[in-house]
Formats: sequence, structure tokens, C-alpha cells
Amino acid sequence: MDGAFGLWAAASPRTRHLISGYEAADSWVSDGHKWLNTPYDCGFAICRWPQAVHAVMATVAPYLKAGEVAAPKDMVPEFSRSARGIEVWAALRSLGRGGVADLVERCCRLARLFADELRAAGFEILNDVVLNQVVATLPGREEQMPEISARVRAGGEAWFGPTRWRGVDAIRLSVSSWVTTEEDVHRTVAAIRAAIP
Ligand SMILES: Cc1ncc(COP(=O)(O)O)c(C=O)c1O
Repeated sequence: MDGAFGLWAAASPRTRHLISGYEAADSWVSDGHKWLNTPYDCGFAICRWPQAVHAVMATVAPYLKAGEVAAPKDMVPEFSRSARGIEVWAALRSLGRGGVADLVERCCRLARLFADELRAAGFEILNDVVLNQVVATLPGREEQMPEISARVRAGGEAWFGPTRWRGVDAIRLSVSSWVTTEEDVHRTVAAIRAAIP
């Protein structure tokens, strides 16, 4: 199951239902560098069948014996790597279970605020804003979405990209930073309004 973002929904009782059934998956992948806010390059794969992972990943050479299941070099594609697990450990240790739930809930609440403020600015919200993503467009001016997102990025107020949703040009906002506030939402929507040609 690709849970790069979505797996973290399980941290909150308010959003857990959105990924119901994930317990049945044989494997999950997720990122620390998304919702957990660790530095880049921090992904994890969690598999119900460690022997299968070992069979695929273990490397044997005359000078390298395959290690046991769970030996670090035999469960991942790389041999040498930095200690990225420490950053994940530190984030989880400092946030705790409640802190991760709070982070998820706060980002989802700010995504809903984005949707409300964009609607008030004349945008149509194309997705169901159930998590931290908002996909929006200006009806009749859809072709302006790439330009609007480029202008806001160039101004430095916020970073988001253009997308296409069911054939319609749109902007796509994803709220995932632990420092994002309501004030940032107000400022970003003001920058979006100002960027409309
Ligand atoms: C659902 C999903 N899967 C995978 C990826 C890619 O993840 P990575 O940063 O590990 O390349 C993303 C990135 O946005 C994503 O949202």
C-alpha cells in the first residue's frame, strides 16, 4: 500500500476511517519527509513477510556473506547509508502519539480553511477535502492555473503546483508543514488572489 501521505491519517481518530482496511495490506510504504517533517530522503517499507524482503534484497558476493533477516544491509537496496532512522525516531519521540495526531488534524483543518477561503475568492473546489489536499480552479479561467501557481511561487509566499483533475487545469495545495498557521493560509490566499491575471 502506498501510504506516502495517507498512512499518517491512521494517527488521528478523526481521519483513521479514511484508510480503513490498511491493516490487511501485506506491506506499507510511507515517508518521513512528508507529513512527519523529517529531512528529505527518508522513506520506510514495512512488510508482513520479512523473509520475502530478505530474499529480494540480500546481496551475496565472495567477500560478502548474506546476513540474517533484519540485518540492515540485507533488507534494503543500499549497503551504505546515513542514519536517517534517527531523525524519524527523534520526530516520533518528540511528538508522541498525540503530537502526530495533532499535526495531522491541524493540517487537515488548514486544508479545509484553504477550501473555504478559495471558495470565497471565486474558486471551485474540485476534490472532497477530507485530508490535507485541496484541488481548486477558477471556473472559466482554468487555463490560468499554471500561471497563477508560478506567480505565487515566484513571489515566495507559498509553494504549490498546478495539476490537471479530470481534464481540468487546477492548482493543488498540500498542507503538511508543522509550522503552517491560519495566518499562512490567509497570506497564501491573498497571494493567489493577487496572482490572478
Ligand atoms: C502518494 C505518494 N506516493 C509516492 C510519492 C513519492 O514519494 P518520494 O518522496 O518518496 O519519492 C508521493 C510524493 O508526493 C506521494 O504523494
